[in-house]
Parts: sequence; structure tokens; C-alpha cells
Amino acid sequence: MAIPDCTAYTEGSTVLFVPRASLEGGRSPVFFNKRGCLTRDISVLLARRTKVDTFLDVMCGLGARGLRVANEARAERIVLNDINPDAIALAYLSARENNLTGVEFQSEGANALLALGDYREGYDTVDLDPYGTPAPFVSNAVLSTRSGGVLAVCATDGANLCGNRPKALERLYAAFNRDRMSKKETGLRILVGFVVRSAAIHGMAARPVLCYNYGEYFRCHFSLERSSSACSNLLNRVGYLVGCEHTYYSAAPYCTVCHASASGGPLWTGGLCDAVLVGELLGDAGRTTLASRYTTSLLEELACECSMNFQYIDLPLLMKNTGASVPKKSSVILGLRDLGYRASSTHFSHTAIRTDAPRTIVAKVCRELTG
Ligand SMILES: C[S@@+](CC[C@H](N)C(=O)[O-])C[C@H]1O[C@@H](n2cnc3c(N)ncnc32)[C@H](O)[C@@H]1O
Ligand SMILES: [Zn+2]
Repeated sequence: MAIPDCTAYTEGSTVLFVPRASLEGGRSPVFFNKRGCLTRDISVLLARRTKVDTFLDVMCGLGARGLRVANEARAERIVLNDINPDAIALAYLSARENNLTGVEFQSEGANALLALGDYREGYDTVDLDPYGTPAPFVSNAVLSTRSGGVLAVCATDGANLCGNRPKALERLYAAFNRDRMSKKETGLRILVGFVVRSAAIHGMAARPVLCYNYGEYFRCHFSLERSSSACSNLLNRVGYLVGCEHTYYSAAPYCTVCHASASGGPLWTGGLCDAVLVGELLGDAGRTTLASRYTTSLLEELACECSMNFQYIDLPLLMKNTGASVPKKSSVILGLRDLGYRASSTHFSHTAIRTDAPRTIVAKVCRELTG
């Protein structure tokens, strides 16, 4: 085992031993990305709110997430696992530095470790945070999460999910994404739909409670319940994005009226976040030492948009080739609200809005605003 050249680095209120090279953007024998601190803030807030006792960080890197949950959410038993033993050596040093008891260390292949789990005695939370796609691990991660627990799944293969690599998307998620207007949301919904379908195979209903995109991270949290009727209810909300004038989301990959083909799916067509939970996390955020100054604003945006189950509209894309320029987003939102439509910004893109207004109306409001 080799300990790389490290420095003590504080994230939230936890001290981590981090390879200097990873902080300086160089190649490092142990993975650490400080930009991921927002996602770890959210893991801590969620663990505090859901009162997590046992937490499996199955691809922990140097342990940043699991150690912060141990230290800042006071979870009792944390298992840190990574296939890279050098990563585990650093996690061990950091746990000692923070005087954490109740942290266990393993260095196994994730699938082997996860497959030992059981819905009765599984973890309160399992966090799956691989390089790229989580697809090969999701089924086993479900096995390791107890009924009533939380499964967190992260994907950084946005190129696949957003449809830029259609063959990989088909192979990994059995899905397609030809949507151009809101491809990130379609990608996130494909990931959610994939987890819902994979969990249902084990009789586990995986209800999405907090799903978002931040930079390269597509992060989803599911509340798990062992119930075949709950599985059926969730599976009924896995369908396709059509978006013609008759059908928005559809159970079939086409509109049954005009036969327009779907532009993406299978995907989750229900809500991406539980509004009550997001409100609670937002309240808690003010009382917590957060590592990222964007965590609160992301939660605020999720709170605003989560009751609107319409895909976002990218304004520059909508107005492309019309000859009209793109007005200020806030003016478009106010203009649509004046007409009686619901409208908000969206966390997916700072140039996009979420609204129940048809695209023709959004374009008309844009044209009127730019004169
Ligand atoms: C994206 S990093 C994890 C980052 C970490 N969760 C964090 O928040 O900083 C992915 C980690 O997965 C580990 N890994 C890759 N394949 C694995 C496998 N099959 N089983 C266990 N760990 C694996 C890598 O060594 C790497 O440390
Ligand atoms: Zn139609």
C-alpha cells in the first residue's frame, strides 16, 4: 500500500487527507474531486434528515462522502469500501484524524460486496458513486439497501444519458434520447427510470425523492420499499417523452393520436423530487456548515420547479432560426405568469425555463419582449 503525497483539507467540518495532485488538477493515484462537494453537502443533509444509522459508501474514493456523513450526520456505522487499497489507506487516516469510531474499511469489488446484502438487514443508505455509468452495479445496490432505506445513485456518463452516444445508451440503459430541447432532463429521467425498473425486479419500489443534475453529476436518491403493488404504481410512471400537441409523456413510444414518435425513453415521467423533503433540507441547510456556496441555491431552485412536471424549454434553442433575439429569462417567466401559466427557472440550465405553456406561446412572449 502506498500513501500518496497528501495534505489535510477541510470539507464541511470534516478533515480529509487528500493527494496534493488531485487538488492541483493533476493525475492522482486516489480519486478526489473537490467540485463534488455540493453533492456531498446534499448527502450529509439527507442523512441528517432521514436519521441514518448505517451507511455504505461502496465506491468511496478517499472516503469524503462517508466520512462527512459519519462526522456531520452522526451516523453510527459507516462502511467505506473502494477497490483501490490506497484510497482506503487515506480514508483510514482521515477517520482517525476526525476521531471517528464506528467506521469500517473494506477493499472489495463493489458488486461482490453489494450482493451480500439483504432487504431485511441491508443498510439505511447505500451510496453508489462510480466512474461513469452506475448501470452494472444498480441491481446489486438494491439488494444491499433495506426496505425503508435510501439508495443514492450517481452517474457521470452524461454523454451516454444525453444521447450523444446512442449505442452506449442502448447497451447500458436499454434506452434512447433524441430530445434536443431538454436532453439533460431526459437523460436524468432515463437514469431514474432505469433504477425504478431494476429495483422492481427485486420486488423493491424505488421512489425518486431527490434527483438533480449538477455539472457532470446526475444524482438520484430513492426511497426503497419492498412491495409489489408499489412497484406496479411506479412502473406505470415509466414511459416515453413524445411532446406533440396531444401527448406529453406516453406509456407507448409514440402518440396514439398523430403517431408522432417519442424522442426519449423509457424514462421516469413522475416528479423528480419530493417537495416536502426538499423544503426540509433547505431549512436544515441554514443550520449546517456547507462546503459549497451553491448548495442552498440549488435546493431553492429544486423547491421552485419540483411541482412542475413539464420538461424545461431552452430559450436560445427555441428562438434559434427565428431571427428574434432571446429576452431576459426573468421577463419571460413574468410574461408567462401574467398570461396565467406556471413558469419558473430550472436548475438544469440558466438559459432555460420550466412552464406549462405550449412552446408557441413561449416563443410569442419572447418575440413580444424583444419587440
Ligand atoms: C468517482 S470515484 C468515488 C468518489 C467518492 N464517492 C467521492 O465522493 O469523492 C469512484 C471510485 O470507485 C472506485 N471503483 C472503481 N471500480 C470499483 C469497483 N468495481 N468496486 C469498488 N470500487 C470501485 C475507484 O477506485 C474510485 O475511487
Ligand atoms: Zn400527437
